[in-house]
Amino acid sequence: MPLVSFRDVQKTYRSLQGADYPALEHFSLDIEVGEFFCLLGPSGCGKTTVLKMLAGFEHPTAGQILMEGRPVAGASRDRGVVFQGDDSLYGWLTAVENVEFGLRMRRVPKAERSERAMRYLELVGLRGQEQKYPAELSGGMKQRIQIARVLANEPKMLLMDEPFAALDAQTRTLMQAELASIWQAARTTVLFITHDIDEAVTLGRRIGVMRAGPCSQVKGVVDVSLDGARSRTDDTFLRYYKLVYEMIRDEVAKSLSRAD
Ligand SMILES: Nc1ncnc2c1ncn2[C@@H]1O[C@H](COP(=O)(O)OP(=O)(O)OP(=O)(O)O)[C@@H](O)[C@H]1O
Ligand SMILES: [Mg+2]
Repeated sequence: MPLVSFRDVQKTYRSLQGADYPALEHFSLDIEVGEFFCLLGPSGCGKTTVLKMLAGFEHPTAGQILMEGRPVAGASRDRGVVFQGDDSLYGWLTAVENVEFGLRMRRVPKAERSERAMRYLELVGLRGQEQKYPAELSGGMKQRIQIARVLANEPKMLLMDEPFAALDAQTRTLMQAELASIWQAARTTVLFITHDIDEAVTLGRRIGVMRAGPCSQVKGVVDVSLDGARSRTDDTFLRYYKLVYEMIRDEVAKSLSRAD
């Protein structure tokens, strides 16, 4: 049984003027336990909508979203969300206190929550920075704290919506490598959203390409059989890049012409 199943999901937004916008229609997708799944698509196609529904923040208009065979009814610790940017950290708490926050809310005893928070800070390469406040840390470090904070709750699944989009190119490359090794170590199932083909081929074990909206759905899924460290200059990497590029090119063109 897949960990997550979207079955024939439809999501229609009602605008403030009262007009309906069908963002997704007949959207179906299975995500397997332990896999790193990248969802790729042109801007505005409905990627964030998919993630928000799985997180339990939005509800489908029709169809079903199942996790371990049960309908997603609302937000849950089983699905940890990492947002874009770094603004969800608490500025008045240190790095380690930020990571511990969810555990404290759940009344996990002090010794256990400190131990767990330190373990995840170490996993994201931030040992030694635990007493610093967010304002004293770089954008990449703050993003790593967010990841550690979500991992400390030990969710069954990590939902990431373009988490590195705001970072500079070098930090972004480092963070991608970091996330790949965190995934190797923790083996948490990941749904990673991006509109960057390079990022998808670098990280994804499978890549789902979405159609341009309205009524978006999955156009196709590419299995990426590259193992270990992936190099952007490898022939196989470039072959996958081209394959995905060709799938998405028409969708980007459609979404641009619709925006005219
Ligand atoms: N709350 C809302 N009310 C009305 N329309 C919405 C709402 N949220 C999203 N939409 C519309 O639904 C479509 C999909 O939006 P979504 O944010 O899921 O796209 P996306 O693929 O994440 O885009 P991007 O790559 O730019 O982040 C867009 O056309 C958007 O305008
Ligand atoms: Mg989005």
